Amino acid sequence: DGQISHTFVIFGASGDLSRKKIYPTLWLLYRDDLLAKPIKFCGYARSKLTVENIEGNCRQYMKVQPNEETKYEEFWALNDYVIGSYDNSSGFELLNRQLTLMENKNRANRIFYLALPPSVFEDVTVNIKQNCMSASGWNRVIIEKPFGRDAASSQALSDHLAKLFHEKQIYRIDHYLGKEMVQNLMTIRFGNKILNTTWNRDNIASVLITFKEPFGTQGRGGYFDAFGIIRDVMQNHLLQILSLVAMEKPVSCLPDDIRDEKVKVLKCIKTLTLDDMVLGQYVGNPDGTTDDARNGYLDDPTVKNGSITPTYALGVLKINNERWQGVSFILRCGKALNERKAEVRIQYQDVPGDIFEGSTKRNELVIRVQPGEAMYLKVMTKSPGITFDIEETELDLTYAHRYKDSYLPDAYERLILDVFSGSQMHFVRSDELREAWRIFTPILHKIEQERIQPITYQYGSRGPKQADVKCEQNNFKYSGSYKWPGSKKN
Ligand code: BG6
Repeated sequence: DGQISHTFVIFGASGDLSRKKIYPTLWLLYRDDLLAKPIKFCGYARSKLTVENIEGNCRQYMKVQPNEETKYEEFWALNDYVIGSYDNSSGFELLNRQLTLMENKNRANRIFYLALPPSVFEDVTVNIKQNCMSASGWNRVIIEKPFGRDAASSQALSDHLAKLFHEKQIYRIDHYLGKEMVQNLMTIRFGNKILNTTWNRDNIASVLITFKEPFGTQGRGGYFDAFGIIRDVMQNHLLQILSLVAMEKPVSCLPDDIRDEKVKVLKCIKTLTLDDMVLGQYVGNPDGTTDDARNGYLDDPTVKNGSITPTYALGVLKINNERWQGVSFILRCGKALNERKAEVRIQYQDVPGDIFEGSTKRNELVIRVQPGEAMYLKVMTKSPGITFDIEETELDLTYAHRYKDSYLPDAYERLILDVFSGSQMHFVRSDELREAWRIFTPILHKIEQERIQPITYQYGSRGPKQADVKCEQNNFKYSGSYKWPGSKKN
């Protein structure tokens, strides 16, 4: 009868990602009536499970208000589950029959979410293509990192996918692209004359992009040890932020115009060398109050003995173009540090022709990604009152004050909704991915082949001191004299 139904398939339905992120996100989108109807959901995995089992698995991560119980049940009633293996087509034939049944003779669009380890990506995508494609609507495939572990393996995966699907059908998630302040970077830059005209090497001294987490491997040591912090966070999340901060103005806000500019700026970045980096690995804090804190990285039983995998990394990237030559972009990330935060710091140059006896501090624009979305600009002012002293203060846009009643959806909510609507703006295109690996592959290989020892730092500390030295050498000044008032509240 002409209706188009949507079916969302979750491979790896019993796994961590599905339980913590995918099902909870689908529920929120359903709750808020954001999904086109009719809609059905179907899990797929190797274990013998029922929808009730899956619901039980997810329950603690599902946000359900008391008055939403009916809708919550309605959501699960739209779910189904198929058991099958990943490397054998019979399960996928079964799945396809089930999907067809669920779609009730409607024309159907299908989304396939691969919440799976990379070891089965290839088999599963081949089997989807051979057995599960809708012939009466579109088909889209969502995949999660790791997209390979270096340039060659990533290219092999991209080539494999390209044989099966068009780029338009492939949605590579980097969930940092779904965060409010990361999505805001375009507007901040290109919607503000005052910022836009100073956004260059004539005014900006350096850019520091930071990711910090206050906990260690927390049972993910097995996965983490094979990848390390450079692949886990720097090569994707931080580099994506960098490209949005540094790219030229796109021709329009169309997804491919934006992604064209991101690729272009990445192409201007030389590959990293060891001199550009500081690598660290955490050791336990004997005075720590939790087991996690007392254990160092190497104490995690799932981590290889004598592992040299970095849990902290700082890398200095240079962009060889007219806008940025000579400006250091410092990417810094680490686990088991003193706090949780992700932010971008655009540090402006010193004021030339000083008349304040050297007491002027640099302007700094801080874009706080999390926690507590904010944007503030550090500025100098005359101390209020009968004095001519000067002091540092800020123009502060803290979302919790200015946008008290706004709902900021989680990154996954935005991204999954984008897949339904067919917008690839916040997804990683294959040429973008190729450039990202080009920049990082030589250093990753060198670290592994030459077993470069990371510097140890204590769990809960700020990371290796050498990182601060590197920042200073790259024209990022930290005086320690300023404290943002917002940091107390968050
Ligand atoms: C993931 C990394 O991509 O991002 C994790 O694999 C990290 O190691 C996580 O903890 C951080 O995401 P968020 O949204 O909590 O900052």
